[in-house]
Amino acid sequence: MSDDRLIVALDVPNVVQGLDLAARLGDAVSFYKIGLGMLTGGGFALANELKQEQGKRVFLDMKLFDIGATVEAAVRGIAQYDLDFLTVHGDPQVVRAAQEGKRGKSLKILAVTVLTSLDRADLDANLIKSGDIRDITLERAARALEAGADGVIASPQEAAMIRALPQAAGKLIVTPGVRPAGAAAGDQKRIATPAQAISDGANHIVVGRPIWQAADPAAAARTIVAELAGI
Ligand code: C5P
Repeated sequence: MSDDRLIVALDVPNVVQGLDLAARLGDAVSFYKIGLGMLTGGGFALANELKQEQGKRVFLDMKLFDIGATVEAAVRGIAQYDLDFLTVHGDPQVVRAAQEGKRGKSLKILAVTVLTSLDRADLDANLIKSGDIRDITLERAARALEAGADGVIASPQEAAMIRALPQAAGKLIVTPGVRPAGAAAGDQKRIATPAQAISDGANHIVVGRPIWQAADPAAAARTIVAELAGI
């Protein structure tokens, strides 16, 4: 049994390895994330194969950011592929352009607030206003949702405060940085377990290495699905 609250990040280098991993995961997983690292390795072809041929849901993690006309054109092109989620940076003008580009299609636009790899020193270096990074994240989430985003990407430790925003009613919260109890954190710093992330208001969790680097990826996925079944 799969559970589409679990999204598996297919962070392997190319379409051949992506298809091999999806075959090993089989019915244990129904939702995949394909990111920029896969783009030159056939990422769009893989997205189409998973969606059209295998009936999976697909999240394209492109984190688009450009002038409005270019974002709109890019999203219009991507929306033709009938995929499920697409990320853009959460600046209101980018979100509005993305919504314009997807007009009439079911693609959901998810806004990235502040990349979880950034800290206050990075924001200073990027000339982003002073203030607590959590406050900035929350404000960016609110503005992106007001601009029409269908949801936001957030660390699981931000999920509860974003869920409490009035602007978040009926919107999606998708959290990477999720680790089953006992799994290696890797380079993720602000982690939570799958059950905690969902209990805090996430609609979907994104899990990569704890599944695709496991000796038995399908078993690792099923363990997370079983954990979610209890919520
Ligand atoms: O392997 P792991 O579970 O850490 O993978 C998480 C996935 O989510 C990766 O594809 C990573 O690029 C993505 N991601 C993240 N943190 C963000 C946004 C995306 O880890 N803030």
